[in-house]
Amino acid sequence: MSAIPIDSSTQMKHLTEDPYPIYKRYRAESPVVHVASIDRTFITKYDDCRYVKNNPDIFSSKDSSAPMERAFQAQTLMKKDGDEHQSERNAMAMAYTPKSIVDVWQSVHAEIAEEFVDRLPQNEVIDLFPVLAGPYAARCLAKLLGISNVSDSQMEYWSQTLMDGAGNYGRLDSIFERCDLAHKEMNSCIEKNTEQLLRNPQMNALSLMVNAENPIPNSQIVANIKVAIGGGINEPRDALLTVLYGLLTNPEQLDAAKNDSSYWAKAVEESVRWIAPIQVSPRIAAIDTQIRGFEIKKGTTINTIQASANRDEDVFEDADKFNIFRDKKPHQAFGNGPHFCQGMHVARTMLKTILPLLFQRFPNMQLTSAQDVRWSGFVFRGPLNLPVILKN
Ligand code: HEM
Repeated sequence: MSAIPIDSSTQMKHLTEDPYPIYKRYRAESPVVHVASIDRTFITKYDDCRYVKNNPDIFSSKDSSAPMERAFQAQTLMKKDGDEHQSERNAMAMAYTPKSIVDVWQSVHAEIAEEFVDRLPQNEVIDLFPVLAGPYAARCLAKLLGISNVSDSQMEYWSQTLMDGAGNYGRLDSIFERCDLAHKEMNSCIEKNTEQLLRNPQMNALSLMVNAENPIPNSQIVANIKVAIGGGINEPRDALLTVLYGLLTNPEQLDAAKNDSSYWAKAVEESVRWIAPIQVSPRIAAIDTQIRGFEIKKGTTINTIQASANRDEDVFEDADKFNIFRDKKPHQAFGNGPHFCQGMHVARTMLKTILPLLFQRFPNMQLTSAQDVRWSGFVFRGPLNLPVILKN
């Protein structure tokens, strides 16, 4: 077995600004590589990322050293393995199934999408990040979780605060203190909603968990509602902005979608393949092992780079291009293995519901300029803004 090559030059700022050329180089030169500046071993090929996530006995999700536990004041299902993970995941699973999408969420999303599209101004330049993508994702998530009496901006604030805490590798007290304040607000809100849902059960994640025959401990119900608040807004928000960018910069693809509605779902799928909203997932080697003949010692923190897997030239032709016409192939934007995204069907429905509405209302919407759009992110990636002219 060989030692893993070390990259001593790449810094976090390079990965945050534009990681794709770096990942392309890694895939060609050293698909398993230790990035010294962030002290993580990167796995960049499609097959290897799948392998890591499909083998939790070798690559565990348990990582109590990560700031996530402190930020969430609990160990959430994302950091558990085996039965312990599965029982918590099962507790809210019914809210996320394709059947619930058809029975409940499709019409809920359609109503929310109509409200948001209706209130957009006409013939004005507007940034769709704060007025549409963020609050739309927040409102849909609040309904899914069963959190009522909360504003969209409050949901967005909680979510961002938890994300900042989970990424607080520098362990700054000020960031954790903001998390603690947000927890007080969230706890009181979740408690009030729990009381209502115990009296009047509904189809949503919180109601399913608190009304279960054998409920999981309340501490875990609360923790997993919070993990969904933390992780359920920024990805659909970023995916919506990315798919809009992809379509607006490729007018022939947008025309195809306007003429054949089956392309909206393909556009959603292509956007998350092209720019994975969660680019990186951590795992810990539970035993001494190897990938591609490179030695991985027990305790090593691995990062599977799904952003890179989704651009692997052995799997996707012309992978750097946004192309809704490409042949259907499974990508890794929603992960795989026991932790694959529980919100996948819901997220897809949210996105493919709002796209046609938006383009029916504003068929001639344009970006002010593709160069005005700023992209950022190493773990989570998406546009920081999306200035458009809302022409009908
Ligand atoms: C485009 C939107 C989304 C993308 C790309 C996405 C992506 C992902 C990925 C890659 C993972 C796996 C992380 C890992 O392996 O460590 C994940 C997990 C998860 N996602 Fe999503 N997600 C999206 C939307 C949502 C939404 C709307 C929800 C709603 C609550 C959600 C809930 C979850 C949950 C609960 C998990 C943890 C599952 C587990 O640990 O068993 N996601 N997501």
